[in-house]
Amino acid sequence: MNELQQEIQLQLEKYRLDKIEPTAEADDHAEKFRMEIFNELGELGFTGVTTSEDYDGTGLGYQDLCVVLSELSKSSVSYAVTISVSSMVQGIFSQFANEQQKKKYLPALATGQEIGAFGLTESSAGSDAASLKTTAKKVDGGYILNGSKMFITSGSIASTFIVMARTGGEGAKGISAFIVRNDASGFSVGKKEKKMGWKVSPTTELIFENCFVADENLLAQEGMGFKIAMAALDRGRITIGSIAVGLAERALEESLKYSLERKQFKQEIFNFQGLQFMMADMATELEASRLLVNESARLFDENKNNQKLACMAKLKATDTAMKVTTDGVQIFGGVGYTSEYPMERFMRDAKVLQIVEGSNQIQRLVIARNLQKQYSI
Ligand code: CAA
Repeated sequence: MNELQQEIQLQLEKYRLDKIEPTAEADDHAEKFRMEIFNELGELGFTGVTTSEDYDGTGLGYQDLCVVLSELSKSSVSYAVTISVSSMVQGIFSQFANEQQKKKYLPALATGQEIGAFGLTESSAGSDAASLKTTAKKVDGGYILNGSKMFITSGSIASTFIVMARTGGEGAKGISAFIVRNDASGFSVGKKEKKMGWKVSPTTELIFENCFVADENLLAQEGMGFKIAMAALDRGRITIGSIAVGLAERALEESLKYSLERKQFKQEIFNFQGLQFMMADMATELEASRLLVNESARLFDENKNNQKLACMAKLKATDTAMKVTTDGVQIFGGVGYTSEYPMERFMRDAKVLQIVEGSNQIQRLVIARNLQKQYSI
């Protein structure tokens, strides 16, 4: 970690311990998202880390964003994922929007006054994203959107959405990307999901009923929507990996501390080799995950995007977070299964990391396709 990243980490550690940690358990129980926390994270420069200073962002790189997300995830995966998805939306603007669109939407997102959300998934288009059915019909001056989106992170708290909808025929080439505001006529937020984890982060349905979107809200050109979504996920998968690393690190720290205090058979349970080996494996897998995430972020920052490595980072780090938090519950024993300790929350928050932004089966599919390309003559 360079000096700036160490400073970022220290500042954020202080913030999360003061402002997030004390109510983390209660907020999880009440499913309460606090907008003031997101706004304050914005004031500290953490909600627009990778957005250029020209649009009020912090102007740093993905390695820096990963430091922010990992640190935040030690107290709250929910706030981290809110920033991760909003940053992904800002990444789409930075890469594909025209100057007018950037000026209009980026500053509020970068400074944390507003939240961005990404609308790709539908009830019948999850892993097979290119089969989405929401339509965008060309009319005078714009498009009319009809359909619905599902499992949208920040659905009820976001103001700016990037929505993928079909302007052409079947398949990836028929999809376009639109900027939709939460006050657009014909747009509404549907049911909020009752989830196992990520309880502070609202996940909702989005409904489009003859929702008018002006021509100026089309991103890039018609038919570019799928490529825009996939390019965004190349970045998003790295940041989801960094969230998994932070979560696993906290779970390991808690496991170590507990095992050095808890006594059974007249000694600290850490002394038992069964637990020592478990924690040695947890630490090893965590370091391997961190190295993969850092390396894929570094390549991204150097404009050498490596899709295969980004998928490997997401796959390895999120599988590790699941394993480490599950083993963490085991080390805590009976109390690990109760909400007296945060370990059960960590385990619940880990699970969906293996599913979002492409399930880990999809990561393997993309890795295998890259290998095929690499080795085909
Ligand atoms: N960048 C740019 N273009 C890309 C690309 C990328 N990373 N990946 C694919 N494309 C292009 C391809 O080149 C192709 O274009 P051409 O035909 O011009 O060559 C086009 O897109 C179609 O690509 P594929 O043929 O590979 O498409 P496919 O239908 O086989 O699907 C897939 C590929 C990898 C399975 C994809 O559908 C996928 O990633 N599925 C998972 C969906 C997903 O990740 N959803 C996440 C939802 S968001 C979320 O989870 C956020 C949250 O809440 C936290």
